[in-house]
Amino acid sequence: MKKLFGALVVLTGILVLGACGNGGSSSTGSSSASGSADNQLEAIKAAGVLNVATSADFAPFEFHALIDGKDTIVGADIDMVNEIADRLGVEVNILDLDFNAVLTALQQGKADIAVSGISATDERKQTFDFTDNYFTPEQKLVVNKNNESTFDSIESLSGKKVGAQKGSIQEMIVQDQLADSQLVSIAKVPNLVNELKQGSIDGLVLESAVAESYVAQNDDLVITDVALEASEGDSYAIALPKGSTELQEELNSILKELIEDGTIDEYVQKNTDLANENAAQ
Ligand code: ARG
Repeated sequence: MKKLFGALVVLTGILVLGACGNGGSSSTGSSSASGSADNQLEAIKAAGVLNVATSADFAPFEFHALIDGKDTIVGADIDMVNEIADRLGVEVNILDLDFNAVLTALQQGKADIAVSGISATDERKQTFDFTDNYFTPEQKLVVNKNNESTFDSIESLSGKKVGAQKGSIQEMIVQDQLADSQLVSIAKVPNLVNELKQGSIDGLVLESAVAESYVAQNDDLVITDVALEASEGDSYAIALPKGSTELQEELNSILKELIEDGTIDEYVQKNTDLANENAAQ
């Protein structure tokens, strides 16, 4: 009887292990249309479409602009994604979501990759794979121009309302570095900018290129010299489902070229100009 029981335990163990192995590989490959492909890269190529989750409220990386009178999602990340898709020989399908839903969509298999100025933090790396970094931002505090001399230090914002995008690392920056301020989280960056302009919040934490773009579009706002600390995990990378080794390698080799030959910097510059022209229209 004891022997039989022992054998059963061993057998069950083998079955469970086997199931885990299969489950692991098929679930990581399930995000794209093609179920037969054995890795994400092949699945995307077979489907002919790269499904990209983003939050198009983040000029110059992803934002809405009127192009020939038509509402279009544009930006440095979008140019980068289009170039990647060209090289893979596939079309792009953009899913425009609130930022706090972007990584969830990736996790649920609704997108193949997430490209949204996403900071590759250690915490996020526990759930997702990331490519190499393609852009390193600084953290900036934006205020109304007429408050520029009032809000010139971390202490000056004590007890004041400081905004950050919901689900972004800027929420943590407010909580950690402006610990005596009151965090106000809002889903969309343009709404945060409006709240600031209307004075319902006193400051707003944004990343450098984004802060510069919105300040250029709103001459009543200014970027302060308040020193916020940046950390290594702030840099932007493309997020992938866990275990996307082939896709990750392919994207890294494309990114390497685009970074080294200055293409990414060009995309950022070009789209900063585009955002300003569009706002001026
Ligand atoms: N880099 C920040 C983060 O990952 C903010 C990104 C916001 N992106 C956007 N498209 N709104 O948390």
